[in-house]
Amino acid sequence: GNGVSGTSTLLGFQGLPPSEADTVTVPPGYRAQVLTAWGEPVGIAGAPMPPWREDASNSAEEQALQYGMHHDGMQFLPLQDDGRRGLLVINHEYTDDGLLHPDGGDPWSAEKVRKDQAAHGLSVSEVELHEGQWRLVRPSRYARRITATTPCALQGPAAGHALLRTAADPDGRRVLGTFANCAMGRTPWGTVLSGEENFAFYFNAGPRPDAHQKRWELPNGSFNRWEAHDARFDAVKHPHEPNRFGWIVELDPMDPGSAPVKRTALGRAAHEGAWVALTRDGRAVVYSGEDARFEYLYKFVSRDRVKPAADGLTAAQANRELLDHGTLYVARFDAEGRGRWLPLVHGQGPLTAANGFADQGEVLIKTRQASDLLGATKLDRPEWLAIHPASGEVFCSLTNNSRRGQGGQPGVDAANPRAANAMGQILRWREDGDFHAETFTWRHLLLAGDPANARAEARGDVKGDAFGCPDGLCFDPRGVLWVQTDVAAGHLHRGEFARLGNNQMLACDVTTGEVRRFLTGPVNCEITGATFTPDGRTLFVNVQHPGEPASDRSDPKNINRFSRWPFGGRPRSATVVVQKLDGGVIGS
Ligand code: FEO
Ligand code: CA
Ligand code: CA
Ligand code: CA
Repeated sequence: GNGVSGTSTLLGFQGLPPSEADTVTVPPGYRAQVLTAWGEPVGIAGAPMPPWREDASNSAEEQALQYGMHHDGMQFLPLQDDGRRGLLVINHEYTDDGLLHPDGGDPWSAEKVRKDQAAHGLSVSEVELHEGQWRLVRPSRYARRITATTPCALQGPAAGHALLRTAADPDGRRVLGTFANCAMGRTPWGTVLSGEENFAFYFNAGPRPDAHQKRWELPNGSFNRWEAHDARFDAVKHPHEPNRFGWIVELDPMDPGSAPVKRTALGRAAHEGAWVALTRDGRAVVYSGEDARFEYLYKFVSRDRVKPAADGLTAAQANRELLDHGTLYVARFDAEGRGRWLPLVHGQGPLTAANGFADQGEVLIKTRQASDLLGATKLDRPEWLAIHPASGEVFCSLTNNSRRGQGGQPGVDAANPRAANAMGQILRWREDGDFHAETFTWRHLLLAGDPANARAEARGDVKGDAFGCPDGLCFDPRGVLWVQTDVAAGHLHRGEFARLGNNQMLACDVTTGEVRRFLTGPVNCEITGATFTPDGRTLFVNVQHPGEPASDRSDPKNINRFSRWPFGGRPRSATVVVQKLDGGVIGS
């Protein structure tokens, strides 16, 4: 933050300096207020509204009626044309047992597993603007929780596949729950798309994983230890259960009775999230990255056109099979700024029975193995995507990859140009002609980093305020690209990150490339999940895991905390509302 305005006419606020304070900071002329936090009741109509207990003694049953933990992707869906009432749909990505239970994660118990599962998934709640302030509407007929045990449908080409059948679900079409929900996109037909990201670590593959389990990095002993009290998470006993996760989940928040649907046509991956564009002839194109080192970027093109609401059906209902038919592609980024989308179609090229793919369902379940055979580009952890509302240019954050070029790992390439990539980069591309094109032209928007760093690979080329590890991305209605950072707690404030402060949110003018720091978060949090009201005058943003231990988040004994945000006690992930004091457009 030099506090000086650059040349951008889009960015009208005074940039902030980096912060190490245990608070949310926004520029002069703005205010940031906590709207709701982990453990507050969501206000489900006809159900109790159990109050938050500061000692974490809420039961599993109560947690299932409250906001979950570790808020991540989020969408605001207006309920009326002026955007003053709407639904907030929030992903609750994972849990921290040190905070979730009064005595942490030790001893472990069936009740703690149930509370863990209830703190995962999604929340839908209603909000309204009242005398200039946003507040929750409770109870609301829309309010609901979706957890790691909520029945979900499997649809698309892999639904019912032999590899998706289990003892509890011999048809392979009904899964209990969704979890590891990271980023969230919304569709033009009014639904949201949620990614099941780090699902693999919830399963125990035992000491002798098979080749498929190895490729998906299923651990020996899950990170969450659910298998101790819920046998389906033991993949030794239930080897197909992990195949039922790693999908893009579509939810219609306007229909509170609707089941979430896992869309198998979009492929199985450690999906960060999914984002939709429309071709000129009205087909849906869904982009999704896989946030894991050396994994891939995908694009799905629907076979059919998006249908309007008609005949008593909402648009969401009219398009409830749209994402079940189409073609999935994986990206190859070539030198000289060219790229190609490689079809993941059974029977084409190497994707044959001889190579281990019996049918299209198996290609979609084993997307990684199929992409390996096609020679797709192994990326530096593709996280969020964002599509420019006017130009159609697509942006993708690659957050970092410390293993690039290290000890037998893939070396640098055109799209991933830095070894031991601590800082990450943002890609931008234009499809040749329209979103369904099989070729594109790409370049970097920026390489993140701090120009004061000694190591050239960690300096970057950011014009304006320096940052590391871009993760969340979104465009506001004016076409400003908002970038959110996720530097791991163990790296903050030291080494190459010493001058970058806490995790933060920055605005980027993608025409000039100028970047300006807009918001800084509390200690050891991640900033994520930005969503704007249609008028651009309210920004909802999530603060994830304030006070996260720098050592190992899965250590059940580690309940030392570095943050008391937001309310001076137990640190809680929370949703923050940002408004301009004069009621103006955010960022202007
Ligand atoms: Fe859940 Fe890749 O962040
Ligand atoms: Ca992320
Ligand atoms: Ca991240
Ligand atoms: Ca995080």
